[in-house]
Amino acid sequence: MAIQNIFVVGAGLMGSGIAQNAITCGYNVVLNDQRQEALDRARAGIEKALNRDVEKGRMTAEDRDASLARLTTDVTMEGGRNADLVIEAIFENLEAKQAVFSALEDICPEHTIFASNTSSISLTALAAATKRPTRVVGMHFFSPVPRMRLCEVIFGLLTTQDVLDAVKEVGEKMGKTLIQADDKPGFIVNRALLPMLNEACVIVGSYIGSVEDVDNGMRLGCNHPMGPLELADMIGLDILLNVMTVMDQEIGAKYHPSLLLRKLVVSGFLGRKSGAGFYTYENGKKVGVNPVLAHFQSVAR
Ligand SMILES: NC(=O)c1ccc[n+]([C@@H]2O[C@H](COP(=O)([O-])OP(=O)(O)OC[C@H]3O[C@@H](n4cnc5c(N)ncnc54)[C@H](O)[C@@H]3O)[C@@H](O)[C@H]2O)c1
Repeated sequence: MAIQNIFVVGAGLMGSGIAQNAITCGYNVVLNDQRQEALDRARAGIEKALNRDVEKGRMTAEDRDASLARLTTDVTMEGGRNADLVIEAIFENLEAKQAVFSALEDICPEHTIFASNTSSISLTALAAATKRPTRVVGMHFFSPVPRMRLCEVIFGLLTTQDVLDAVKEVGEKMGKTLIQADDKPGFIVNRALLPMLNEACVIVGSYIGSVEDVDNGMRLGCNHPMGPLELADMIGLDILLNVMTVMDQEIGAKYHPSLLLRKLVVSGFLGRKSGAGFYTYENGKKVGVNPVLAHFQSVAR
């Protein structure tokens, strides 16, 4: 089944990245969000990123213009009417995601595939709330989507092979390497990664090491391209907490979210997107360790 029109729901960090990646690979994209300001921010971000690609010689001005012409934004769900594929990227909540698919059920054609970018929610549970459970699948992209080369494809209990093949073709056309995972919490990557990010939060919260020492430790000692706390800030501490909470409930205590992570989120420190998490940010650039963590910086000896 050839996919040409993609309806992306949620124009935050992930949805806007998926839309940018897809339009530059020839897909027509309608990007939806319930908030007009999110759509305006997403469009401005995509235009800025493509302009930078042109300046750096990675893309021609003609390709940029053709890509942008393939992008439409729509605050209503009507953009799903011609969709071959829906990619849902709203916040990590089962009922909210099910509500999106329910709302699209009678708008989208019968052949439309419903994919979710969820990091932790069961695709089988999402599928169960639709009238098309065989056409529900996971497409788990990584941030920043245009640069990260992986897409994890997750099959629910009823997902059919033609649906898996169709979304793999889209992923490949978007320049990704595909890995395939069964519908178990965290799939492959988060199941392995999240305990490490959470433990980095525990280390700071237990006065074992400072924010910068934890990040330097993992960057320089393990050759990770960025520290776990910088990465947590980039993912979004609220997203990390939501995913850890689901995995804690589904798998058990080794995924129990750290107390410090919970305190930061409840205080509105959500990472890069809110201007502060473990670090503070100005114009998207890291400035220093968040001053509210000052007392964790003096590690007892
Ligand atoms: N942040 C990451 O690094 C990352 C990586 C992989 C997967 N994910 C997953 O991607 C999804 C989105 O994460 P994000 O970081 O982009 O979140 P985000 O908070 O940046 O963006 C979510 C967007 O969804 C919009 N939204 C909420 N409810 C909506 C609805 N009913 N209809 C339309 N729009 C709605 C919000 O207005 C917001 O703009 C989550 O499921 C998350 O687990 C995130």
